[in-house]
Amino acid sequence: MAHLLHIDSSPRGERSHSKRLTREFVEAWKLAHPADVVTYRDVGRNPVPHVDEPWIAAAYTPPEQQTPELQEAIRISDQLVDEFLAADLYVIGTPMYNFSVPSTFKAYIDQIVRIGRTFAFEPEDAANPYKPLVLGKKMFIITARGDSGFGPGERNEKLNYQDPYLRTIFGFIGITDITFVHVENDEFGGTSLAESIAAARTQVAQLVGR
Ligand SMILES: Cc1cc2nc3c(=O)[nH]c(=O)nc-3n(C[C@H](O)[C@H](O)[C@H](O)COP(=O)(O)O)c2cc1C
Repeated sequence: MAHLLHIDSSPRGERSHSKRLTREFVEAWKLAHPADVVTYRDVGRNPVPHVDEPWIAAAYTPPEQQTPELQEAIRISDQLVDEFLAADLYVIGTPMYNFSVPSTFKAYIDQIVRIGRTFAFEPEDAANPYKPLVLGKKMFIITARGDSGFGPGERNEKLNYQDPYLRTIFGFIGITDITFVHVENDEFGGTSLAESIAAARTQVAQLVGR
């Protein structure tokens, strides 16, 4: 039995391509793996707080030295990290916003990339001071974009701060087994969008069937 954490970050409802595709992924996954547990979090509709000064003070204070105020400052982050670490695999839906991810998803990432919890900092190992702590997990990320051509060698490659960023930040905490599915051309509509959705659906079905 595996534990799947399903995270969406589009603020849209039925119009969201990333949400529709993550839902299809999870529905197919549940049919194929009925014993698995699924936890759902929608940071697009229910944003998590931004990091603030008490949060930073708490995150960099060892747990045994934290005052009740510091414990409270980090409470939501602790819950989010516990939820994140409890999962074996992740299905994440994220729009491309201004060539990156929505700020709500960035706020979530800032809450779960935590020193001592999802990565370790060992300054004595100057050549390699950061150690990933989230090992052996698998991640599927379904993006939705208005345009296309963000892949290697394509016309928008240099504008793409979305999937390279996500590979970097989740790789930093140890998640390197990441598969991307992209729905593109939302701004163009018509057949270019329909073809992209159909290709993404096929890819989702293949990924779940594997
Ligand atoms: C605030 C905002 C910024 C956007 N920025 C980009 C962008 O930089 N590049 C792009 O290709 N599409 C961009 N889009 C289009 C969205 O990526 C596209 O509509 C996508 O389908 C949204 O995801 P969703 O369908 O899951 O809601 C933007 C849309 C919004 C609302």
